[in-house]
Amino acid sequence: MRVEITDLDKLPADRGLKVTVGEERIALFKIDGSVYAIGDRCSHAEASLAEGELWDRSVECPRHGSEFDLETGVPASLPATAPVPVYDVVIEDGKVFLDMESS
Ligand code: FES
Repeated sequence: MRVEITDLDKLPADRGLKVTVGEERIALFKIDGSVYAIGDRCSHAEASLAEGELWDRSVECPRHGSEFDLETGVPASLPATAPVPVYDVVIEDGKVFLDMESS
């Protein structure tokens, strides 16, 4: 299922945007013109990853500091050990869509 999220121009650069689609909380990041979407709830204790600090192509959880890869959702550092969902992003006609079949 493809869901329209926002205009590409309205996504903040180099920081996260939290959106909710149905029951799912999703963190979007626009970095160097590319858009990434991962589950917003940290797999350790559910902090909002959209509020984390960006490091290249990863985001640092604001609560305990695990770093999640924005392309795979896999944490590269403890205390989180489980990945967060990753969503396919489609950009068409200046709009950002998410494919809600997470991987
Ligand atoms: S809540 Fe994210 S590392 Fe603990």
